[in-house]
Amino acid sequence: MVKICCIGAGYVGGPTMAVIALKCPDIEVAVVDISVSRISAWNSDTLPIYEPGLDDVVKQRRGKNLFFSTDVEKHVTEADIVFVSVNTPTKTQGLGAGKAADLTYWESAARMIADVSKSDKIVVEKSTVPVKTAEAIEKILTHNSKGINFQILSNPEFLAEGTAIQDLFNPDRVLIGGRETPAGQKAIQELKKVYARWVPEEQIICSNLWSAELSKLAANAFLAQRISSVNAMSALCEATGADVTQVSHAVGKDTRIGPKFLNASVGFGGSCFQKDILNLVYICECNGLPEVANYWKQVIKINDYQKSRFVNRVVSSMFNTVSGKKIAILGFAFKKDTGDTRETPAIDVCKGLLGDKARLSIYDPQVNEEQIQRDLAMKKFDWDHPIHLQPLSPTAVKQVSVVWDAYEATKDAHGICILTEWDEFKSLDFKKIYDQMQKPAFVFDGRNVVDAEKLRQIGFIVYSIGKPLDDWLKDMPAVA
Ligand code: NAI
Repeated sequence: MVKICCIGAGYVGGPTMAVIALKCPDIEVAVVDISVSRISAWNSDTLPIYEPGLDDVVKQRRGKNLFFSTDVEKHVTEADIVFVSVNTPTKTQGLGAGKAADLTYWESAARMIADVSKSDKIVVEKSTVPVKTAEAIEKILTHNSKGINFQILSNPEFLAEGTAIQDLFNPDRVLIGGRETPAGQKAIQELKKVYARWVPEEQIICSNLWSAELSKLAANAFLAQRISSVNAMSALCEATGADVTQVSHAVGKDTRIGPKFLNASVGFGGSCFQKDILNLVYICECNGLPEVANYWKQVIKINDYQKSRFVNRVVSSMFNTVSGKKIAILGFAFKKDTGDTRETPAIDVCKGLLGDKARLSIYDPQVNEEQIQRDLAMKKFDWDHPIHLQPLSPTAVKQVSVVWDAYEATKDAHGICILTEWDEFKSLDFKKIYDQMQKPAFVFDGRNVVDAEKLRQIGFIVYSIGKPLDDWLKDMPAVA
């Protein structure tokens, strides 16, 4: 029986391995992690991450050919194929701080693999890593190999949180990079055999190692760039009276452009986009390509601009001060259908409003108070370290309360900011909400989910990203 071990039981390791176990009942899959609490959660009824369809897949295979364990060394020793899906944070100190990837976790995983291995193994990079990481890992493994043969493959993951299970069932493509040697090609074929159980062969792309590593960074940079492009347009739309939804619809009809990823919003978030672009920027700089580095940096700058523009809009609309005012925050996760808050735009928006002394009442159907308080107190990039290595429980931010109901959050509020596009926000009873708010009552829709006209008829003053402005808002321009 082929045995697979995956180091790192996070948003990528957990779902990908659960789907491999489901599609390949004859392969034993062990997912291991140094975080005891994470592994206990994977073995419980409340999984550590929320992802539609995931519970079902895990329940079908757990205890049969899918195991979650903290016994990292045992499972690595026994495995034929070892996936490494550990975190790759942005460095916060030293050379490349604020840009380069911190490969501490990767390196320690590689050293451990070398230490405990007694048989030949295929080691698969699942984490997103800078180009040429495989080469470094290969060096660590071969220098400590005791005669064992390791083949390194790059198999970046393209799943999107919120639709991870669907993406894994029907991926647009699976990418496998390997050495262009007979042994490298053989290893590629071994891994290809696993995916070929459910992915059509023409969708499994094989390449060299560096192309695979760079393709993942490039794909995320292109996706983020689309969001920043439409968000840049949204600012122009507000200034001129055009409607960004109409513009992106017209633009997306061009088959060379396509309709996806063209929704204007308060900004992109998630654990990957910013980190991967910073990585790309750093690689460009290191390779003497400052113009290319600056080009990609601008994607992040526009994202930051969009978030601060939103905060400015809120503050300026409310008579240039939110001091002491209650602002309801609807949605904190970085997108709908996930409880993930890593790099969510809500963090910067909330911090911006708190900087202006607002009181916040936050509701998200999937994010609890502890997480929100932690996020609002955490330093940039600290979130991307295993939880037991993060700063100890920070003191709660006093002006923030977290509630489990949108009506509770909006009671007596002066304004509402919608920061995640949860479907339930579309069907809230806004008349009821309006009646229990302070007047004038404001809605700032950072995801364009509500029917602005309907809300205006109720009496709200409404701001929707990239849409023609209410007269009220025109009279109170947000100065960046
Ligand atoms: P995560 O932070 O949820 O999971 C990583 C896990 O690795 C943590 O539970 C941590 O405790 C564990 N870990 C760290 N060092 C370890 C070690 N030496 N031994 C055992 N366990 C160890 O991260 P996530 O989101 O799963 O991302 C992992 C990688 O996949 C990152 O490189 C990320 O960029 C990439 N990726 C993430 C996607 C996403 O949507 N989250 C999508 C595609 C790629």
